[in-house]
Amino acid sequence: MIPVASHGEPIPVHRRTIALVGLMGVGKSTVGRRLAKRLGLPFSDGDVEIEAAAGMTVSDIFARLGEAEFRAGEARVMKRLLDGPRRVLATGGGAVLNAETRAILKARAVTVWMRADLQTVVARVRRRDTRPLLRGRDPLEALKGMAEVRYPYYAAADLTVDVTGGAHAEAVEAIVSALEAHWSGAEA
Ligand code: S3P
Repeated sequence: MIPVASHGEPIPVHRRTIALVGLMGVGKSTVGRRLAKRLGLPFSDGDVEIEAAAGMTVSDIFARLGEAEFRAGEARVMKRLLDGPRRVLATGGGAVLNAETRAILKARAVTVWMRADLQTVVARVRRRDTRPLLRGRDPLEALKGMAEVRYPYYAAADLTVDVTGGAHAEAVEAIVSALEAHWSGAEA
């Protein structure tokens, strides 16, 4: 089945960008890079692209310009990347908050929700201090709040892969299996 795209030409499922969505700390960037290598596709990281476009780190964008400006820039970058050639794309955890980004993802990507239990995510985010939305907050409480708002959006993904407690290599294989089933279903 070829879904009708509201953004540009409809893209057959096999030729779509693979977009990883999910909370910060689930491993979208690391797994995305490995998945791209495994599939022989280029890889883009939304946050890295935003930083390149702004000439500032994500933390500095939040601190100097505020979250609303960050979200506007994030939506522009998502549109540019999703309008471009097929790739594996690690989206920022909050990218799905933007309605247009959601529409473009639906029209142009196969979306994969990397889901992990919140304790796994907390353990991972404690290792780095680069996330402005966690600064000065209890990570579990902050992540619970995000989960409440975002899980309905993540749940609309084409595929959901549970990556709780698993190593990155296992997550890559689980995503490849889910994608293969999705692609062969699209052929039928
Ligand atoms: C955010 C997630 C981050 C980054 C920014 C905001 C969010 O990306 O875009 O700190 O709102 O969840 P990662 O999900 O790659 O950590």
